[in-house]
Amino acid sequence: METAGRIQIRRLEDSEIDTVTRHLGLARLYQGDGAYLVAWIDESPVGHAYLTRTDPPQLQDVEVSATYRRRGVAHRLVAAAETAASASGARSLRLSVSARDLDVQRLYRSLGFVDVGIAPLEVHGVVNIRTGPIEVNDTLLTWEKTNIAVV
Ligand SMILES: CC(C)(COP(=O)(O)OP(=O)(O)OC[C@H]1O[C@@H](n2cnc3c(N)ncnc32)[C@H](O)[C@@H]1OP(=O)(O)O)[C@@H](O)C(=O)NCCC(=O)NCCS
Repeated sequence: METAGRIQIRRLEDSEIDTVTRHLGLARLYQGDGAYLVAWIDESPVGHAYLTRTDPPQLQDVEVSATYRRRGVAHRLVAAAETAASASGARSLRLSVSARDLDVQRLYRSLGFVDVGIAPLEVHGVVNIRTGPIEVNDTLLTWEKTNIAVV
């Protein structure tokens, strides 16, 4: 199935929350420091990414529905986040990636993110997200893409 040309990405509107929640987690919906970008195909939500308004902005909660993976949806979401961050005056975009998730590292490396030398963060214990408490036991690496440009 051809996918790339059919993806539309836009900022999540309040009126779309119920529809998106039926397909995706929106775990950071009420975090209060940013906004979700949602990827749509034929008016179905297929992926999202949360972009914070911090300095530098951070990309969080990138998620693509299982049936739409490996078709470039995450690439398009990250590109849209770069454009939005750049339009807000940012020149870099930061994210955290699990030290053990080599597939996700490959994704972000291919998009130009690099380790910027910030000490890895050990995260252990229960974290409360919108969908409920989750047990976390992870090492998070901080990666950044500098010189982001409007794409
Ligand atoms: C990680 C995730 C967002 C990738 O979304 P996607 O739309 O499939 O990614 P894209 O199609 O844009 O890019 C795919 C590339 O990423 C890497 N990649 C992503 N998932 C991979 C996997 N399971 N195995 C190997 N490589 C993978 C590869 O480089 C791949 O390129 P290829 O298909 O040419 O080999 C998606 O798998 C997902 O939602 N996973 C669960 C949530 C998650 O882990 N989020 C990231 C942390 S916030």
